[in-house]
Amino acid sequence: MTPYLRKEVEDLGFKVDHERLAGLEITGSLNDCMKLNLCLSTAHRVHFLLKKFEAHNADQLHEKLVSIPWEEYIDRSGYVSVTSFIKNKTIDNTQFAQLKVKDAIVDRIRQETGARPDSGSDLNHTVVFLFWKNEEAMVYLDTSGESISRRGYRVQNHTAPMQETLAATIVQASKWEPGQHFVNPMCGSGTIAIEAALKALNKPTGLLRPNYGIKHILGFDVGEWNSLRTDLKYQGNKDFEGRILATDHDRRAIQAAQKNAKTAGVDHLIEFKVCDFRETEIPYGDGVVVMNPPYGERIGHDQQLESLYTAIGDFFKQDCSGKWGYVFTGNFDLAKKVGLRTNQRIELYNSTIECRLLEYELY
Ligand SMILES: C[S@@+](CC[C@H](N)C(=O)[O-])C[C@H]1O[C@@H](n2cnc3c(N)ncnc32)[C@H](O)[C@@H]1O
Repeated sequence: MTPYLRKEVEDLGFKVDHERLAGLEITGSLNDCMKLNLCLSTAHRVHFLLKKFEAHNADQLHEKLVSIPWEEYIDRSGYVSVTSFIKNKTIDNTQFAQLKVKDAIVDRIRQETGARPDSGSDLNHTVVFLFWKNEEAMVYLDTSGESISRRGYRVQNHTAPMQETLAATIVQASKWEPGQHFVNPMCGSGTIAIEAALKALNKPTGLLRPNYGIKHILGFDVGEWNSLRTDLKYQGNKDFEGRILATDHDRRAIQAAQKNAKTAGVDHLIEFKVCDFRETEIPYGDGVVVMNPPYGERIGHDQQLESLYTAIGDFFKQDCSGKWGYVFTGNFDLAKKVGLRTNQRIELYNSTIECRLLEYELY
């Protein structure tokens, strides 16, 4: 997702210092993290670096961590949780290393203030993230807490709903421009259509959610937060020209999608219908048709799914000319059954599953 994240970050006016496999490094203040959390639709988390150091084993880790002035960031009567990514040969149990981090934080705060915060696994308070690979360690405040992907609008799930960040990435990766039509047959819980509608309105995806990790960091600038949220609320468009259509043959999927769209405040923009994907209306004019069909297991599939993918190809050919067609799938054998020449095959991950967003130019 990194190229799409990079574009979003740069559009917000930040300069990228380093690009990593699954993330970007930029320079900014804690207050900058507010905007990043509220506006980035393709990011999972915004980590604020506190310290980078060398640690060969858990004892060294503890020693370095105790020197960080945690009492300046975490309330002594607050609550802290620790998450991590660890690849160090002395550690075979991540929980143990996380415990070391937590102990260092609590020891330091107790020593400085005479009291200690509670700790546990709840991500709705202060969250500290440890990245430790070989001897290189970096410790961060996780200013998001829960993943930004959890926007708060998905109140009802249908089978295999897609993460909101992935749906936002698919929207960004497509050739769709707000103002054009966005058609989403097989919409399931409606995530892709909802992300498209939020983009059409230029509505920051993070506004719906009230809680973020940053709000639990000592010195949190509540005035800045409130004024930023107010500014963002009034930015963007009230309406837009194109049509957004979302269909699914399962009535429960459409019910879930409608509920989710309502919570996201975009139900007035999406035309929902219960129907087979082949009966989806394709409006005249420029636009895209985006589908995330079921793909079962990554290896091996049944005859029914093969026929479904062949039928998608036929539908694209016969009913969608003039549009850009997209199929998002994790099964490459099934993808071939669409039977049309791809214009692009974009590599994306659905959690740990390697997937493709296949792009077709439909004449
Ligand atoms: C993988 S799910 C889509 C998930 C969706 N992206 C989301 O975020 O919730 C696939 C959807 O395709 C629908 N579907 C399967 N066959 C269909 C058909 N022939 N016509 C319409 N919808 C179909 C299923 O009901 C299911 O909701």
